[in-house]
Amino acid sequence: MPPGQECGALLNLWGDKRLLLYQFLNMKRSNLQIRGFSKLSKAAKITWLTEQHLSDPARGQELLASYNHADEAVQKRHDEFIENTVANYFLPLGVAPNFLINNQVYTVPMAIEESSVVAAAAKSAQFWMDRGGFHSTVISSTKIGHIHFTFTGDSEALNRLVARIQPELFAATDSITANMRARGGGMLSVELKDRREAMDDYFQLEVRFETRDSMGANFINSCLEEMAKVLRLEAATDAGTASGDLEVVMCILSNYTPECLVRSEVRCALDDLDDGSGVDVQEFARKFQRAVRIAEVEPYRAATHNKGIMNGIDAVVLATGNDFRAVEAACHTYASRDGQYRSLTHCSVADGEFRFWIEIPLSLGTVGGLTKLHPLVQLALEMLGNPGAHELMGIVAASGLAQNFAALRALTTTGIQKGHMKMHLLNILNQLEATDAEKAQLTSFFADKVPHHADVVHAFCALRGIPVPAAEGVRS
Ligand code: MEV
Repeated sequence: MPPGQECGALLNLWGDKRLLLYQFLNMKRSNLQIRGFSKLSKAAKITWLTEQHLSDPARGQELLASYNHADEAVQKRHDEFIENTVANYFLPLGVAPNFLINNQVYTVPMAIEESSVVAAAAKSAQFWMDRGGFHSTVISSTKIGHIHFTFTGDSEALNRLVARIQPELFAATDSITANMRARGGGMLSVELKDRREAMDDYFQLEVRFETRDSMGANFINSCLEEMAKVLRLEAATDAGTASGDLEVVMCILSNYTPECLVRSEVRCALDDLDDGSGVDVQEFARKFQRAVRIAEVEPYRAATHNKGIMNGIDAVVLATGNDFRAVEAACHTYASRDGQYRSLTHCSVADGEFRFWIEIPLSLGTVGGLTKLHPLVQLALEMLGNPGAHELMGIVAASGLAQNFAALRALTTTGIQKGHMKMHLLNILNQLEATDAEKAQLTSFFADKVPHHADVVHAFCALRGIPVPAAEGVRS
């Protein structure tokens, strides 16, 4: 066969193979579609999942089962938190002791996977314990929800309507708010907002709530939905507004909670910043303040700076059964409230005093939600002395501030990798399946060195007397 034809035949053969591969993948894909999955039992879901998706279904089933709780009732409760549960997903629960906040000492629970976060929080807590601790203040605790609607009629008539039907709007939520009112909370105000500058015909009823110790999402949404019914009905029958078209688009709380705000602060005389390491306190404070300033003016740095703060915040929010996505959304929106994304912490050095503080919106609950359902959440709250929402806001804010202090202290002095990689060393050794004795030896070997991944692998292989895997390459 002439060379050109040979090549053509090969291409044809490859084309056939591609067709087969394509058909095979399509077959696989059609097997991956399933209707009525949510109706299957947990066992049937796991069978389907492991058989369709895993190369070794039996091993997958065994692994999933090994993550089940030994107590069937507890497992069932976990299964019912969400839909289509197939296992529990473990995260470490750590504790950072010695947090002095408003003259009370706390051991703070933190659920997080990232090495060094708990160690950093504990280190900062200890540092500030000796310098008066954290001072947290709840500035306000109002939450906001909206009925988003469009209206094509006379806006003045709409204004009059909303003023007139205020009692009906409140009355519509009476049965929902009764318990909350008994606890000192409830609905605070209803205000019409004309948002036609942002979108044609767009209005809102902006409703303010006090939800006491509960986060209040369900409470707020239920109130809004009841009020929307009243708004629709009244607008359709009011002489001034009936000629216009009013459409309720949606009723939902806002996760941006700038009126549910907490501040936490640490301060000390400049000389007291010396932690015994012989640091030049003037130089330290100047550089630290400059690092905060960079995060105030530069969004690229602000994102990382705030991410570090959220390491401390999310871990406590998660451990106490709160909604960390809501907290993240609120904090990042707050960080951009003047149109540029900025630092959530601030620092001043004046008159021989160092001050460092955080101001953040935190919508948290200590009743409702997971608080009575998840045994570890209950334990975490008990560890904190069963705080109310305000107290928890102060603890969480202090944890974010502590985390940021630790990060900035490391970044502006030794560099971040030293502490980070030390904790990371354990992760690398675990990946290598090092024994406890090997871990002890290698930890002491790296005590005064930065444990870069390749260096750890080389040291581990040398200790075991085995060749370094080719993928690790040659050490420079
Ligand atoms: C890492 O999770 C967090 C830091 O990057 C925060 C910071 O840079 O401030 C260390």
